Amino acid sequence: MPESAEPTLYGGPASRRVTVVDIQAAKERGERWAMLTSYEQYSAEIFDQAGIPVLLVGDSAANNVFGYPDTISVTVDELLPLVRAVARSSHRAMVVADLPFGSYQLSPTQALETSIRFMKEGGAQAVKFEGGARVVPHVEEIVAAGIPVMAHIGFTPQSVHALGGYRVQGRGEAGDTLVHDAVALQRAGAFAVVLEMVPADVAKRVTAELTIPTIGIGAGVDCDAQVLVWQDMAGLRAGKMPRFVKQYADLRGVLTGAVQAFAADVRSGEYPDGARSYS
Ligand code: KIV
Repeated sequence: MPESAEPTLYGGPASRRVTVVDIQAAKERGERWAMLTSYEQYSAEIFDQAGIPVLLVGDSAANNVFGYPDTISVTVDELLPLVRAVARSSHRAMVVADLPFGSYQLSPTQALETSIRFMKEGGAQAVKFEGGARVVPHVEEIVAAGIPVMAHIGFTPQSVHALGGYRVQGRGEAGDTLVHDAVALQRAGAFAVVLEMVPADVAKRVTAELTIPTIGIGAGVDCDAQVLVWQDMAGLRAGKMPRFVKQYADLRGVLTGAVQAFAADVRSGEYPDGARSYS
Protein backbone atom coordinates (compact mmCIF):
# COMPACT_ATOMS: atom_id res chain seq x y z
CA MET A 1 0.00 0.00 0.00
CA PRO A 2 1.42 3.41 -0.85
CA GLU A 3 1.87 5.62 2.19
CA SER A 4 -0.13 8.84 1.85
CA ALA A 5 0.52 12.26 3.37
CA GLU A 6 -2.76 12.08 5.28
CA PRO A 7 -2.81 9.35 7.94
CA THR A 8 -5.32 6.69 6.96
CA LEU A 9 -5.89 3.16 8.17
CA TYR A 10 -5.21 1.97 4.59
CA GLY A 11 -1.99 3.88 4.04
CA GLY A 12 -0.47 3.70 7.51
CA PRO A 13 2.98 2.33 8.28
CA ALA A 14 3.47 -1.12 6.78
CA SER A 15 6.15 -1.79 9.38
CA ARG A 16 3.76 -2.39 12.26
CA ARG A 17 0.28 -3.66 12.98
CA VAL A 18 -2.80 -1.47 13.19
CA THR A 19 -3.64 -0.81 16.85
CA VAL A 20 -6.69 0.27 18.82
CA VAL A 21 -5.19 3.77 18.87
CA ASP A 22 -5.19 3.85 15.03
CA ILE A 23 -8.80 2.58 15.00
CA GLN A 24 -9.86 5.27 17.44
CA ALA A 25 -8.05 7.97 15.42
CA ALA A 26 -9.96 6.83 12.30
CA LYS A 27 -13.26 7.38 14.14
CA GLU A 28 -12.15 10.85 15.14
CA ARG A 29 -11.15 11.65 11.51
CA GLY A 30 -14.45 10.25 10.24
CA GLU A 31 -12.60 7.68 8.11
CA ARG A 32 -14.59 4.62 7.06
CA TRP A 33 -12.82 1.26 6.86
CA ALA A 34 -13.45 -2.37 5.98
CA MET A 35 -12.98 -5.48 8.09
CA LEU A 36 -13.02 -9.00 6.61
CA THR A 37 -13.09 -12.44 8.11
CA SER A 38 -10.08 -14.65 7.42
CA TYR A 39 -9.40 -18.19 8.56
CA GLU A 40 -6.18 -19.26 6.88
CA GLN A 41 -2.90 -18.31 5.23
CA TYR A 42 -3.74 -17.13 1.70
CA SER A 43 -6.79 -15.03 2.49
CA ALA A 44 -4.86 -13.46 5.40
CA GLU A 45 -1.88 -12.66 3.16
CA ILE A 46 -4.03 -11.23 0.36
CA PHE A 47 -6.29 -9.12 2.59
CA ASP A 48 -3.33 -7.87 4.63
CA GLN A 49 -1.41 -6.86 1.50
CA ALA A 50 -4.56 -5.23 0.08
CA GLY A 51 -4.61 -2.99 3.15
CA ILE A 52 -7.57 -4.37 5.10
CA PRO A 53 -6.78 -3.00 8.58
CA VAL A 54 -8.63 -5.57 10.71
CA LEU A 55 -8.96 -9.33 10.11
CA LEU A 56 -11.56 -11.20 12.13
CA VAL A 57 -11.08 -14.90 12.70
CA GLY A 58 -14.79 -15.29 13.19
CA ASP A 59 -16.65 -18.17 14.75
CA SER A 60 -18.28 -18.09 11.29
CA ALA A 61 -15.44 -20.52 10.53
CA ALA A 62 -18.04 -22.97 11.85
CA ASN A 63 -20.15 -22.70 8.68
CA ASN A 64 -17.44 -21.46 6.29
CA VAL A 65 -14.56 -23.81 7.13
CA PHE A 66 -15.79 -26.71 9.25
CA GLY A 67 -19.12 -27.48 7.59
CA TYR A 68 -21.34 -26.99 10.66
CA PRO A 69 -24.87 -25.67 10.04
CA ASP A 70 -24.40 -22.71 12.42
CA THR A 71 -21.84 -21.20 14.81
CA ILE A 72 -22.95 -23.08 17.94
CA SER A 73 -20.74 -26.17 17.59
CA VAL A 74 -17.30 -24.72 16.85
CA THR A 75 -14.79 -24.93 19.72
CA VAL A 76 -11.79 -23.01 21.03
CA ASP A 77 -9.53 -25.89 20.00
CA GLU A 78 -10.85 -25.72 16.44
CA LEU A 79 -10.50 -21.93 16.17
CA LEU A 80 -7.07 -21.57 17.78
CA PRO A 81 -5.06 -22.99 14.84
CA LEU A 82 -6.97 -20.72 12.44
CA VAL A 83 -6.13 -17.65 14.54
CA ARG A 84 -2.49 -18.75 14.61
CA ALA A 85 -2.44 -19.14 10.81
CA VAL A 86 -3.97 -15.70 10.21
CA ALA A 87 -1.62 -14.03 12.72
CA ARG A 88 1.43 -15.71 11.14
CA SER A 89 0.36 -14.80 7.61
CA SER A 90 -0.39 -11.11 8.20
CA HIS A 91 1.95 -8.34 9.25
CA ARG A 92 -0.06 -5.15 9.27
CA ALA A 93 -3.68 -5.96 10.08
CA MET A 94 -4.97 -6.23 13.63
CA VAL A 95 -6.07 -9.85 14.13
CA VAL A 96 -9.25 -10.24 16.18
CA ALA A 97 -10.18 -13.67 17.57
CA ASP A 98 -13.87 -14.47 18.03
CA LEU A 99 -14.72 -16.32 21.23
CA PRO A 100 -16.93 -19.31 20.38
CA PHE A 101 -20.19 -20.25 22.08
CA GLY A 102 -19.65 -21.68 25.56
CA SER A 103 -16.14 -20.28 25.95
CA TYR A 104 -17.07 -17.04 27.75
CA GLN A 105 -20.72 -16.99 28.86
CA LEU A 106 -20.17 -18.83 32.18
CA SER A 107 -18.30 -16.00 33.92
CA PRO A 108 -15.94 -13.06 33.42
CA THR A 109 -13.15 -15.37 34.60
CA GLN A 110 -13.96 -17.94 31.93
CA ALA A 111 -14.05 -15.14 29.33
CA LEU A 112 -10.64 -13.88 30.47
CA GLU A 113 -9.13 -17.38 30.43
CA THR A 114 -10.34 -17.97 26.88
CA SER A 115 -9.15 -14.54 25.76
CA ILE A 116 -5.69 -15.21 27.21
CA ARG A 117 -5.50 -18.45 25.18
CA PHE A 118 -6.33 -16.62 21.95
CA MET A 119 -3.74 -13.92 22.71
CA LYS A 120 -0.93 -16.24 23.89
CA GLU A 121 -1.48 -19.37 21.81
CA GLY A 122 -3.21 -17.74 18.83
CA GLY A 123 -1.18 -14.55 18.52
CA ALA A 124 -4.32 -12.37 18.25
CA GLN A 125 -4.23 -8.68 19.11
CA ALA A 126 -7.84 -8.46 20.30
CA VAL A 127 -10.90 -10.62 21.01
CA LYS A 128 -14.56 -10.29 20.10
CA PHE A 129 -17.65 -11.81 21.66
CA GLU A 130 -21.41 -11.46 21.47
CA GLY A 131 -23.78 -9.85 23.95
CA GLY A 132 -25.10 -6.60 25.37
CA ALA A 133 -25.37 -5.37 28.94
CA ARG A 134 -25.15 -8.96 30.25
CA VAL A 135 -21.51 -9.27 29.16
CA VAL A 136 -20.39 -5.88 30.55
CA PRO A 137 -18.59 -7.57 33.52
CA HIS A 138 -16.85 -9.89 31.04
CA VAL A 139 -15.65 -6.93 28.95
CA GLU A 140 -14.44 -5.11 32.08
CA GLU A 141 -12.48 -8.14 33.28
CA ILE A 142 -10.74 -8.70 29.93
CA VAL A 143 -9.99 -5.02 29.31
CA ALA A 144 -8.55 -4.72 32.83
CA ALA A 145 -6.13 -7.52 31.89
CA GLY A 146 -4.88 -5.45 28.94
CA ILE A 147 -6.75 -7.20 26.13
CA PRO A 148 -8.71 -5.09 23.61
CA VAL A 149 -12.34 -6.18 23.25
CA MET A 150 -14.60 -5.78 20.22
CA ALA A 151 -18.26 -6.11 21.21
CA HIS A 152 -21.04 -7.60 19.02
CA ILE A 153 -24.74 -6.75 19.39
CA GLY A 154 -27.91 -6.77 17.27
CA PHE A 155 -28.34 -10.19 15.69
CA THR A 156 -25.95 -12.43 17.60
CA PRO A 157 -25.67 -15.75 15.72
CA GLN A 158 -24.73 -17.78 18.81
CA SER A 159 -28.22 -16.96 20.16
CA VAL A 160 -30.00 -17.96 16.94
CA HIS A 161 -32.29 -20.39 18.76
CA ALA A 162 -33.30 -17.86 21.43
CA LEU A 163 -33.86 -15.17 18.78
CA GLY A 164 -36.14 -17.43 16.71
CA GLY A 165 -33.96 -17.48 13.60
CA TYR A 166 -31.95 -15.05 11.47
CA ARG A 167 -33.91 -11.87 12.14
CA VAL A 168 -33.25 -8.14 12.18
CA GLN A 169 -32.85 -6.92 15.79
CA GLY A 170 -33.55 -3.50 17.30
CA ARG A 171 -36.78 -2.57 15.53
CA GLY A 172 -39.24 -0.33 17.44
CA GLU A 173 -38.64 -0.02 21.16
CA ALA A 174 -35.82 -2.59 20.99
CA GLY A 175 -33.82 0.18 19.32
CA ASP A 176 -33.47 1.94 22.68
CA THR A 177 -32.15 -1.27 24.30
CA LEU A 178 -29.61 -1.56 21.52
CA VAL A 179 -28.38 2.00 22.07
CA HIS A 180 -28.26 1.36 25.82
CA ASP A 181 -26.25 -1.85 25.30
CA ALA A 182 -23.79 -0.11 22.97
CA VAL A 183 -23.20 2.70 25.46
CA ALA A 184 -22.75 0.21 28.32
CA LEU A 185 -20.19 -1.77 26.29
CA GLN A 186 -18.29 1.39 25.42
CA ARG A 187 -18.27 2.39 29.09
CA ALA A 188 -16.98 -1.09 29.98
CA GLY A 189 -13.97 -0.45 27.73
CA ALA A 190 -14.80 -2.05 24.37
CA PHE A 191 -12.81 -0.43 21.54
CA ALA A 192 -15.43 -1.11 18.82
CA VAL A 193 -18.92 -2.57 18.47
CA VAL A 194 -20.17 -4.83 15.69
CA LEU A 195 -23.82 -4.15 14.80
CA GLU A 196 -25.34 -7.11 12.96
CA MET A 197 -28.69 -6.96 11.14
CA VAL A 198 -29.90 -3.75 12.73
CA PRO A 199 -32.17 -1.16 11.06
CA ALA A 200 -30.03 1.50 9.37
CA ASP A 201 -31.58 4.36 11.38
CA VAL A 202 -30.84 2.61 14.69
CA ALA A 203 -27.24 1.91 13.63
CA LYS A 204 -26.94 5.60 12.70
CA ARG A 205 -28.15 6.55 16.19
CA VAL A 206 -25.68 4.19 17.87
CA THR A 207 -22.82 5.46 15.68
CA ALA A 208 -23.61 9.08 16.57
CA GLU A 209 -23.93 8.26 20.26
CA LEU A 210 -20.62 6.36 20.60
CA THR A 211 -17.10 7.74 20.64
CA ILE A 212 -15.77 4.29 19.60
CA PRO A 213 -16.36 2.94 16.08
CA THR A 214 -19.33 0.85 15.01
CA ILE A 215 -18.75 -1.95 12.49
CA GLY A 216 -21.86 -2.80 10.52
CA ILE A 217 -22.97 -6.04 8.90
CA GLY A 218 -26.48 -5.50 7.61
CA ALA A 219 -26.64 -2.21 9.55
CA GLY A 220 -26.67 0.41 6.80
CA VAL A 221 -24.14 2.90 5.51
CA ASP A 222 -23.77 5.13 8.56
CA CYS A 223 -21.58 2.78 10.59
CA ASP A 224 -17.91 3.75 10.90
CA ALA A 225 -16.79 0.47 9.34
CA GLN A 226 -18.28 -2.52 7.52
CA VAL A 227 -17.54 -6.23 7.81
CA LEU A 228 -18.38 -9.20 5.60
CA VAL A 229 -17.58 -12.88 5.70
CA TRP A 230 -14.97 -13.13 2.95
CA GLN A 231 -16.48 -16.15 1.19
CA ASP A 232 -19.76 -14.19 0.86
CA MET A 233 -18.00 -11.05 -0.38
CA ALA A 234 -15.92 -12.95 -2.95
CA GLY A 235 -18.69 -15.28 -4.17
CA LEU A 236 -17.23 -18.57 -2.95
CA ARG A 237 -20.33 -19.61 -1.01
CA ALA A 238 -23.32 -21.01 -2.90
CA GLY A 239 -27.00 -20.58 -2.10
CA LYS A 240 -29.18 -17.77 -0.83
CA MET A 241 -27.23 -14.84 0.59
CA PRO A 242 -28.45 -12.47 3.29
CA ARG A 243 -29.78 -9.21 1.81
CA PHE A 244 -26.77 -7.22 3.04
CA VAL A 245 -24.19 -9.30 1.13
CA LYS A 246 -22.63 -7.77 -1.98
CA GLN A 247 -20.57 -10.18 -4.06
CA TYR A 248 -17.48 -8.54 -5.51
CA ALA A 249 -16.27 -11.62 -7.41
CA ASP A 250 -17.40 -15.06 -8.54
CA LEU A 251 -14.69 -17.22 -7.00
CA ARG A 252 -16.95 -20.26 -7.04
CA GLY A 253 -17.38 -19.89 -10.81
CA VAL A 254 -13.65 -19.28 -11.37
CA LEU A 255 -12.67 -22.29 -9.25
CA THR A 256 -15.29 -24.55 -10.86
CA GLY A 257 -13.98 -23.59 -14.32
CA ALA A 258 -10.35 -24.25 -13.28
CA VAL A 259 -11.20 -27.63 -11.74
CA GLN A 260 -13.19 -28.72 -14.80
CA ALA A 261 -10.39 -27.64 -17.18
CA PHE A 262 -7.80 -29.57 -15.10
CA ALA A 263 -9.96 -32.72 -15.03
CA ALA A 264 -10.57 -32.47 -18.81
CA ASP A 265 -6.81 -32.09 -19.49
CA VAL A 266 -6.07 -35.14 -17.35
CA ARG A 267 -8.73 -37.19 -19.14
CA SER A 268 -7.46 -36.17 -22.60
CA GLY A 269 -3.78 -36.63 -21.73
CA GLU A 270 -2.98 -32.93 -22.30
CA TYR A 271 -1.74 -32.60 -18.74
CA PRO A 272 1.11 -32.90 -17.95
CA ASP A 273 2.75 -31.91 -21.24
CA GLY A 274 6.47 -32.14 -21.97
CA ALA A 275 7.23 -28.76 -20.40
CA ARG A 276 5.76 -29.99 -17.14
CA SER A 277 7.58 -33.35 -17.11
CA TYR A 278 11.15 -34.25 -16.10
CA SER A 279 13.64 -35.99 -18.43
O1 KIV B 1 -18.01 -14.65 13.04
C1 KIV B 1 -18.17 -13.72 12.25
O2 KIV B 1 -17.86 -13.81 11.05
C2 KIV B 1 -18.73 -12.48 12.76
C3 KIV B 1 -18.97 -11.37 11.79
C4 KIV B 1 -20.09 -11.68 10.92
C5 KIV B 1 -19.12 -10.08 12.47
O3 KIV B 1 -19.00 -12.39 13.91
